Amino acid sequence: MTDTLTLPDRPASATPPKTMADTLSVTDNRTGKSYEFPIADGTIKATDLRQIKTSDEDFGLMTYDPAFMNTASCRSAITFIDGDKGILRYRGYPIEQLAEQASFLEVAYLLFEGELPSQAQLDKWTADIRYHTYVHTNVIKFLEGFRYDAHPMGMLLGAVGALSTFYPDAKHIDDPANRYVQKVRLMAKLPTLAAFAFRHNRGLPYEFPRNDLDYIGNYVNMMFSIGGKHEPNKVLQRALEILLILHADHEQNCSTSAVRSVGSSHVDPFSAVSAGIAALYGPLHGGANEAVLLMLDEIGEKKNIPAFIEKVKAGTGRLMGFGHRVYKNYDPRAKLIKRIADDVFGQTGMNPKLEIALELERIALEDEYFIKRKLYPNVDFYSGLIYQAMGYPTDYFTVLFAVGRLPGWLAQWEEMLKDKDQKIARPRQIYTGYDERPFVPMKNRK
Ligand code: CMC
Repeated sequence: MTDTLTLPDRPASATPPKTMADTLSVTDNRTGKSYEFPIADGTIKATDLRQIKTSDEDFGLMTYDPAFMNTASCRSAITFIDGDKGILRYRGYPIEQLAEQASFLEVAYLLFEGELPSQAQLDKWTADIRYHTYVHTNVIKFLEGFRYDAHPMGMLLGAVGALSTFYPDAKHIDDPANRYVQKVRLMAKLPTLAAFAFRHNRGLPYEFPRNDLDYIGNYVNMMFSIGGKHEPNKVLQRALEILLILHADHEQNCSTSAVRSVGSSHVDPFSAVSAGIAALYGPLHGGANEAVLLMLDEIGEKKNIPAFIEKVKAGTGRLMGFGHRVYKNYDPRAKLIKRIADDVFGQTGMNPKLEIALELERIALEDEYFIKRKLYPNVDFYSGLIYQAMGYPTDYFTVLFAVGRLPGWLAQWEEMLKDKDQKIARPRQIYTGYDERPFVPMKNRK
């Protein structure tokens, strides 16, 4: 069979060009029939398998892949990960170089546009965001309606969803100029909402955006300014900016898949992003850094580590901040975060929990259980400690993750919309329930 699929332009590091031999031959032993399917980019099309039938009435063969362990749901040119080698690149640029040399807004532009901005492009991008930082006064009333101790992630996901009602024009997702405006709005307003959620928990009045400050400076000021005054610490601000860069995208993770999946119904981007925030809220995803600190509290002292490790190995709980669906090596972000920790603790003083974390990592990395399963520290293992040292409460960590991940969500959302292969997300199932049976009237039920 001739392979008629065409490949888009791809970076040099991607799959080599395919040849006529790039096919898969399959024999169905139920019927003895053979089939040949094209292989493109190391994949076959799952829908090609539908040709494999035992009879004309047969629906055709499907794949069973709970949690998408081995299914590519899209083609993407945004983020490259090699989990075995511990490599992460945005648009081809190594994460280490971006973390060292770029600003968060530069990285966001790169994720959206595919290229680093020129100075003029960055200036326009920055200015556009700067002038959209305010939220409608009614959003403030909406936030005030939350209980005094509302989890800031719950507030954030509610508030971002609510923004869709303030910008009904955001429904025009087919118009690139309109999409740009909504991306600017979200990038500009998410820190404002995130800062308001922070202050709500503390009973502090909301501090309004200051357009004379840069993106990170303004965000930090909205959180920590008291009586209109806040002494900026540039080392801590740069550390926060690097953490946001490290979180900016991570290809088809749970929250990004949620944004793509919800966005595939062609809902507005505010609603799609609020779905991403909801997914990130979960303890197996963005909530893990909060869980790491709770775990370190539970361990309490270094001497309790061996007993804790034994409990994990016996299946009672997990070593939070360890393991990853994709990385089977040290998460490159965790390596960079460990370095940032030195800068941060240099400013804030040592946190005794860091010593427990370092010892926990040392012991786990030497333990057969973790070695065999290729479990290494992930991005969340040290990030929570740093956030805590910077003055954020544990339930706020995931909010910082959301602010960082926003450009990735939006870049992936737009890529999904432009992708002609994409349709509304709608997985299949294997039905395991009853066959047809007659309704049982109440008097006859047990
Ligand atoms: N502690 C102890 N055992 C673990 C851990 C852990 N953190 N992670 C995985 N395992 C074991 C697991 O019990 C299983 O063992 P066995 O084969 O004997 O049943 C094996 O390793 C494979 O685990 P899995 O659950 O099949 O792996 P997964 O790819 O489905 O899960 C994960 C990935 C991140 C959900 C998982 O490693 C985990 O729960 N880690 C702790 C939570 C965490 O740190 N999450 C943050 C992820 S990074 C941030 C992000 O990108 O969102």
